[in-house]
Amino acid sequence: MNDAVLSFSGIRQEFPAPGSDVGIRVIDGIDLDVGHGRFVAVIGPSGCGKSTLLQMAAGLLMPTRGTVHHRGRAIATINREVGFVPQQAQLFPWKTLAQNVELPLLLRGVGADERRERVAAALDAVGLSGFDHYFPSQLSGGMQKRGSIARTLVYRPDVILMDEPFGALDAQTRMVMQNDLQMLSRDASATVLFVTHDITEAVLLADNVAIMSQRPSKLLANIAINLPRPRNVFEPFKNPGFEDAYDAVWTVFRSQIGIRQQPH
Ligand SMILES: Nc1ncnc2c1ncn2[C@@H]1O[C@H](COP(=O)(O)OP(=O)(O)OP(=O)(O)O)[C@@H](O)[C@H]1O
Ligand SMILES: [Mg+2]
Repeated sequence: MNDAVLSFSGIRQEFPAPGSDVGIRVIDGIDLDVGHGRFVAVIGPSGCGKSTLLQMAAGLLMPTRGTVHHRGRAIATINREVGFVPQQAQLFPWKTLAQNVELPLLLRGVGADERRERVAAALDAVGLSGFDHYFPSQLSGGMQKRGSIARTLVYRPDVILMDEPFGALDAQTRMVMQNDLQMLSRDASATVLFVTHDITEAVLLADNVAIMSQRPSKLLANIAINLPRPRNVFEPFKNPGFEDAYDAVWTVFRSQIGIRQQPH
């Protein structure tokens, strides 16, 4: 037993291969603790099981072996105490942006006045003030993505699971959102488990970077990033120590990426 907010122990995951009864092992024994108020980034090659891990923490998938604990309790069903921004987060097309963001509050029985205030604050936090009455089809892809993030932030979960949340955003919006998330997670002392493909993003945002191997995946390393905060996400290289932290992650991660040699 430990006092981590989220704890993955001995996680193994097998899926039946499509068209066959044979199980394919995707995750081959992962142990990872996420302490209170910590920001942990998970990186790993495509298909190694990053989204699978988040789905387990959200209680949407039970591991073949091992257990995920949330605040000491084994997750055995859908976990409504965490906020989850899935990789393919989508707003309901028949609801306006404000109605989409309001939904988790309605489900939790929050009163109308407070709902209005919190929706406005959440939309403001993702830079979408004034778009309340727009339907998703009237928003750009990046705006829809930000709307789905607002829908999770609005109920102030103490654990936030984010699956490549900024992947679809343009480079400028992405930096602004990284900066906002950094402030927001600090102010709310939220615990964040954040999947990304981007080493720079991981190093800029995280207290720890967990690096997964190719599947069947194991945890290759869990590297502490001790850069001072707040960090300058707009000019990564201006953060003292950034280069060394990036190198520490890259040195482990590069073995997992097929880098072609240039012919001589
Ligand atoms: N329901 C399922 N049935 C069968 N195989 C699955 C299922 N869900 C995931 N997989 C397989 O498990 C592996 C891990 O999937 P997952 O989505 O967790 O990868 P990922 O690390 O998030 O990849 P990416 O970086 O591309 O998002 C993939 O090879 C995928 O094909
Ligand atoms: Mg994924």
